[in-house]
Amino acid sequence: MKWAIVLIVAQVVHHIAGEQAYVVSNEQLEPFEGDSETLVIFDNLKTIGRERAINGSFSFLGDMNNDDFKVSVELYSSPNNDGDFKRMVFDVPQTSICECFKKFYVQFVQPSVSDGETTNFPLVGEDTCPIPQGEYYIKSVLFNTQDWPEQVPRGMVKAIITFFTGGKNVGGFIMVVKIEDRQN
Ligand SMILES: *[C@@H]1O[C@H](CO)[C@@H](O)[C@H](O)[C@H]1NC(C)=O
Repeated sequence: MKWAIVLIVAQVVHHIAGEQAYVVSNEQLEPFEGDSETLVIFDNLKTIGRERAINGSFSFLGDMNNDDFKVSVELYSSPNNDGDFKRMVFDVPQTSICECFKKFYVQFVQPSVSDGETTNFPLVGEDTCPIPQGEYYIKSVLFNTQDWPEQVPRGMVKAIITFFTGGKNVGGFIMVVKIEDRQN
């Protein structure tokens, strides 16, 4: 009981300090092609250095409007870090692209790249639609988890992010991160 209170207090303190009780590190980033055509290109995105920062560039070959493009996010968890991945329940089914960016990019990625230097991808807000065509750079980015949920599974988490148009897969990428308790 005492320990529970100490843990809760520690979590609250971290949260006030803008720190999560966990640390996320990048493990792997792998692009994949579409079924018959590829309209989103993540081939030039890599993890670099000891910290495996995300670096490189990605391209959207055309503007992607909300009616024609969708994105899905499948999530898998390997709690023991052994690569035995099980599907998680919080998948994002195929969702209109602008909604997906407003909900998920803004929460999970944008805080890591919003200093105006790490990417030339536009700041996503309420009116960002369509998602614009272009080649965008990302300079040595580590995840800032300030807006991530407090409750996330520990271990390895794999996200498969797929872009669709007309129901067809037009490319995407697989990202694996490791989530560990923050050591004080
Ligand atoms: C990081 O990405 C840029 C392109 O955006 C590239 O020029 C640079 O060589 C990359 N750095 C490393 C260490 O791969």
